[in-house]
Amino acid sequence: MELKPATARARANIALVKYWGKADAGSNLPASGSISLTLDGLQTITRVAFDPDLDRDELFLDGVEAADVPRARAGRFMGLVRKMSALDLFARIESHNSFPTAAGLASSASGFAALACAATRAAGLNLPEPVLARLAQRGSGSAPRSLLGGFVELHLNGPDDEPNCRIEQLAPAEKWQVRLVIAVCESMPKKVGSSEGMERSRTTSPFYASWLRTHADDLQAARRAIAKEDFSRLGEIVESSCFKMHSVALSSKPALLYWNPASVAVMHRVWTLREEGLSAYLTIDAGPNVKVLCPDKQAAKIGSALECIEGVKRVIVEHPGPGVEYLP
Ligand code: DP6
Repeated sequence: MELKPATARARANIALVKYWGKADAGSNLPASGSISLTLDGLQTITRVAFDPDLDRDELFLDGVEAADVPRARAGRFMGLVRKMSALDLFARIESHNSFPTAAGLASSASGFAALACAATRAAGLNLPEPVLARLAQRGSGSAPRSLLGGFVELHLNGPDDEPNCRIEQLAPAEKWQVRLVIAVCESMPKKVGSSEGMERSRTTSPFYASWLRTHADDLQAARRAIAKEDFSRLGEIVESSCFKMHSVALSSKPALLYWNPASVAVMHRVWTLREEGLSAYLTIDAGPNVKVLCPDKQAAKIGSALECIEGVKRVIVEHPGPGVEYLP
């Protein structure tokens, strides 16, 4: 069989109802479902080429050979692809991000979605979406959501009721004229990564059990708000899910505080913008950047208001984007 390199492009997604905590660290299965919005401009393009001359998997991030930890993570993932394809070769992986890696802009989601697609295609496999989703989830719990565009739900348990995940598009990118205004408050990699942070929360936060217990209600409410195009209801759930997740992080031991002073200043500004009549709702992941969901017509005004806050390095206005694509 002739092995051709393959290239895939995936976009970052931002969780509207968050995932924070794993059911099983070994299989990386999340402990709860989640709902996200895939963004258009924050992209990862990954090329995978299997090569009989290699004696280990190689990983290049934006042209630079990756450090041991990300290389080992990619290597473990490639081991799964080798198992599925019965291919006994190592690969060279070249990945390019259009945004800073590991700074709370969901690089692992777009990274593992693109890698799952490019690696399986390069291994000669043509996998259906449910299988790709389960593979991407082994790399990162948020990655399956980047396989689809627009509003996406990650459900736990497939139709066979096995512990597993499944993805569903709740609404396509074009359904709603919304924007995500991102206030970049830091572009350095975070000190405590998501996997480590989640495990700390699971094992030490007194609020972890109630976070999981109330999760199904948040998912259902968000699903309904999206179906009814009820923007302010969705916004309320988005903010509430964000602060619930951060309460769990903050109550972990030692505490996980992902915000910096600029993040807090942005939060206050978003709330005053709301008092002034704008429909702006914020969310924050495992990093200091603040993402503000708003109707498209309000994005420019909100962006200008956030840009002049001290500590905000830049503002990016994103719109909903499509799912993964294979490139020639
Ligand atoms: C706060 O998907 O990066 O962004 O599965 O360990 O790779 P791993 O975690 P990751 O964590 C996502 C955490 C979050 C919320 C979310 O995207 O749902």
